[in-house]
Amino acid sequence: MDVFEAIKRRRSIRAFKNVDVPEEDVEKLIEAARWAPSAGNIQPWEFIIVRNPETKRKLAEAALNQSFIEEAPVVIVVCADYERSARGYGSRGATLYCIQDTAAAIQNIHLAAVAMGLGTCWVGAFREEPVKELLKIPDGVRPVAIIPVGCPAEQPKPRPRRPLSEIIHREVF
Ligand SMILES: Cc1cc2nc3c(=O)[nH]c(=O)nc-3n(C[C@H](O)[C@H](O)[C@H](O)COP(=O)(O)O)c2cc1C
Repeated sequence: MDVFEAIKRRRSIRAFKNVDVPEEDVEKLIEAARWAPSAGNIQPWEFIIVRNPETKRKLAEAALNQSFIEEAPVVIVVCADYERSARGYGSRGATLYCIQDTAAAIQNIHLAAVAMGLGTCWVGAFREEPVKELLKIPDGVRPVAIIPVGCPAEQPKPRPRRPLSEIIHREVF
């Protein structure tokens, strides 16, 4: 699939068919993620693949009861190792680059999923501490996104975007 087609076709999917996603497909998504750019090629990302129903239920609970998370056959929790980034770039690495790098990896997952006919949603609204505890995420690492992955059971309409004329600034802001 052409990259522009994948970009345009991607939607946040919040309903999933009761169909499994094979592990090799999940690894394909993470393969796409690891080719994202990162500051100094530090690659501060870590990926936790969750299939256990009870763990998914607790993730949904930590995400302010966004129950569609537990309905997906698989959930990828994407983490940023900010200590790794800090070793290269100090506080800018810890507070900015590690989040930017990880966000780029997350977007690659979403786009690869579209090309594979899978549905995903970027869930950022969750309480970090319960997620850290549940998934045994070590100090120095932050969970950044919860991504439920499955076969889409809905086809949402595109949500509006701000027009180019409003967001492009030429020469100065
Ligand atoms: C950083 C971030 C956090 C988000 N958090 C949530 C979330 O917690 N729950 C949710 O349902 N969607 C979440 N979304 C998805 C957005 O609501 C969605 O991308 C936006 O409404 C545009 O719709 P589209 O993705 O279908 O184009 C998040 C997206 C981003 C980038």
